[in-house]
Amino acid sequence: MAGTKTKSIVLKTNIPGPKSAELMARRKAAVARGPFHGTPVFVDHAHGALIHDVDGNVLIDLASGIGVVNTGHTPEALVKAIKAQAEKLIHGSFNTTPYEGYVALCEKLNAKAPGKFAKKSFLANSGAEAVENSIKIARAFTGRPAVIAFEHAFHGRTFMAMTLTYKEKPYKTGFAPLNSDVYRAPFPYAYHDVSVETAQDGFAALLSMIGPDKIAAVIIEPVQGEGGFLPAPREFLDALRAHCTKHGIVLIADEIQSGFGRTGTLFASEQLGFEPDLILSAKGLGGGLPISAVTGRAEMMDAPIEGGIGGTFGGNPVAAASALAVLGLFEDGTLLKRATYLGLTVRKTLMDWKDRFPVIGDVRGLGPMLAFELVKNRSTKEAHPDAAKALVKFCYERGVVILTAGSHGNCVRLLFPLVITDEQLAEAFEVLESGLKTL
Ligand SMILES: Cc1ncc(COP(=O)(O)O)c(C=O)c1O
Repeated sequence: MAGTKTKSIVLKTNIPGPKSAELMARRKAAVARGPFHGTPVFVDHAHGALIHDVDGNVLIDLASGIGVVNTGHTPEALVKAIKAQAEKLIHGSFNTTPYEGYVALCEKLNAKAPGKFAKKSFLANSGAEAVENSIKIARAFTGRPAVIAFEHAFHGRTFMAMTLTYKEKPYKTGFAPLNSDVYRAPFPYAYHDVSVETAQDGFAALLSMIGPDKIAAVIIEPVQGEGGFLPAPREFLDALRAHCTKHGIVLIADEIQSGFGRTGTLFASEQLGFEPDLILSAKGLGGGLPISAVTGRAEMMDAPIEGGIGGTFGGNPVAAASALAVLGLFEDGTLLKRATYLGLTVRKTLMDWKDRFPVIGDVRGLGPMLAFELVKNRSTKEAHPDAAKALVKFCYERGVVILTAGSHGNCVRLLFPLVITDEQLAEAFEVLESGLKTL
C-alpha cells in the first residue's frame, strides 16, 4: 500500500508507519494500559476531514475524534476565537472571578435548546461531568433517589455515569461497587425484536416496581451512540414524556453524541419532537476543546444550593469562546442543511450495501449519524464483532478512520466531520466498500 496516492488519502508508509510505531512503544511504556486506540496512528495535525499523521500519511476521518469535530478539524473561525481568547484570559475559574464567555454561552444554549420554557445552563468539562451534574440537579429538585437508564446506554466513565452505562466490559470491569438506586429499562431495538410496546411495558413495570415517587430522573440518549446508533422512536419518547410529567420525574436527554449538528439539527430532540427537562451537551459543543453543558428548566437548574455544583475548570474561557464560535458556524443553517443532505446520500449507499453484503444485518441512525450492524448470519442475527474489527483495520491501513459501536462491538458507526467534501466521502466509501467485499 505504501506509495499509493489518491485525491485525499496519501500513503507514504504502511499504516501504522515507523514514527507511529515508535510513539506507540513509548506510549506503552509511559501511559496506563486503560486508554484504548481505535486507530494506532499518531496524529501530527488535522484540517477539515483530513488527518495528517506523524509519518506524513493523510487519512480521511470518518470518526471526528468520537463525534467531536462536527465542524471539522481546526476550522478557521475556531482557531481565531481560541487565539483571541487565549491572549486575553486562559483561566479565570467561574467560581473565583467570573467572565462573560461563560454567561454568553449559557444564554445561547438556553435559546437553542428545545422547549418553550425558561431555561438556565451550567457548564462543566466533559460529557461524564454533565451527566453527573444532571443527576445531582434532578435529585436536588425532586428530593428523590432513583434513576432509570436504558439498555445499551452509554453515559460516560465517572462513577454515576459508569453506573448508568449498560455495557459491563470494559466499562465496569474491576470497578465495583457501583452506585445504588440505578435501574435499567429496555430500549426499543426493532432489529432484535424489542418493540416499542415491549419497551413501554418494561418501563411501566419498572416504574411501579420502584414507585414513581422514589424516582428523581430518567436519562435517555434520543439516539444511542455507543450502543449502536439506535434512534428512540417518537412514540416511545412521547410515552416517557407523559410518564415523567405525570409523576414529577426529571426527564434528561443525553445529547452528548447526538447533539451539535450530528443528526442534521442542532439537537436530535428537535427532529423527534422531544422536549426533555434537561439536555446535555459536550463533544461537538466545544469543537475539540473540552467543555460540556447541562441546559434545562430554570426552576430545576436552580435546585442545587449555591456552591452545590461547580468546579475549577468548568466553562473555561477558551473552551467557552470555542463553543461560541461553533454555534456561530451553525448559525445560518448551511452546515445543518449539508449534514441533512449527507445523511440522505450516505443512507442510500448503506442501504445499497445492505442489499449486496449479507454481513450487514441492519442500517440505522438519524440524519448523518449512521451505523450498520454486522452479523454472522442474517437469520440468527448473531453478532460479528470480528468483522467490525477487521473492517476498522482494513480501513485504517488504507487511509480511512472509522469506529465500532454496539453492546457486542459489531456495529460500524460513521461520525464524519460535517464539512467533509463529496469527493472525500466518495473516496473513503470506496475503501469501506472494498473492505466489506473481503468479509
Ligand atoms: C451519549 C454519551 N454520553 C456521555 C458520554 C461521556 O462523554 P465524555 O467521554 O466526554 O465523558 C459519551 C461519550 O462518548 C456519550 O457518547
